[in-house]
Amino acid sequence: MARRVRKAIFPVAGLGTRFLPATKVMAKEMLPIVDKPLIQYAVEEAAAAGIEYFIFVTGRGKSILVDHFDHAPELEMLLGRRGKEQELESLFEAMPDPGKVFSVRQQVPLGLGHAVWCAREFIGEEPFAVLLPDELLMSDVPGLKQLMNVHADVGGNLISITEVLPEHTNRYGILNVETDDGKVAKAMGMIEKPSLEDAPSRLANIGRYVLDPAIFTHLDKHLTGSGGEIQLTDAIDATTDSLPFHGVRFDGERFDCGDKIGFITANIAFALKRPEMSDQVRAAVAKLIA
Ligand code: G1P
Repeated sequence: MARRVRKAIFPVAGLGTRFLPATKVMAKEMLPIVDKPLIQYAVEEAAAAGIEYFIFVTGRGKSILVDHFDHAPELEMLLGRRGKEQELESLFEAMPDPGKVFSVRQQVPLGLGHAVWCAREFIGEEPFAVLLPDELLMSDVPGLKQLMNVHADVGGNLISITEVLPEHTNRYGILNVETDDGKVAKAMGMIEKPSLEDAPSRLANIGRYVLDPAIFTHLDKHLTGSGGEIQLTDAIDATTDSLPFHGVRFDGERFDCGDKIGFITANIAFALKRPEMSDQVRAAVAKLIA
């Protein structure tokens, strides 16, 4: 039985160039899906999976993400005075308990592996989760929990995976599979954004990880990989000699909100799940496409 996963890293230092001008002054993780920012969905998913400590790896201009999980006294007072109970309550929905939110700066954007490495002192010697908030997951069992359930049995490093189109392998970390039972794939390694010819499979990393702190030994070397960046994928790949590595097929709907189409689709999908607006959204969309 592997050690319990208590800590999660949220790498949120990215610039969000794909959403300019919306992200000129605002963090891309604050883009809303219906009425909640992307970062809140990721934090809620982690909390629902049993995560207790939340660490944000931020960059310049990204403090707003940490503020989102703090009190807003003026707003709270105003809503209280006006009797806006529901709105007031919504402010507390995702607020972790005092002392459970941490942040660290990635001073220079050197890649995802480097961002995770920036949180190494916080992690110490225990297994931990990483959630990429751009990837929005909709499922009965929280995406991260699905991964943690398998981790409890097999330990080592794990990522959530889904099958992608052959022409899309160059957008993702792709698993090099050893055996596959249709749900869990035992992997020999992983390669970041391979071309169609170089892709060892079509099983793609969808931004949920449970990792062993041993990966920091590799990240300490600051080796660059795909795109000239320090890749988390390479650190995982480098530790497969000494640790088990598994991909777990995600059971649910996944939306790549780092992409405009994915973001728009997610907004419609999440709105359709909300009882108070579902019928109206359905009618509005039907009218638009008629
Ligand atoms: C990151 C990871 C990649 C993963 C992807 C999922 O890439 O490096 O392995 O498949 O997220 O969205 P990015 O899209 O940040 O370049």
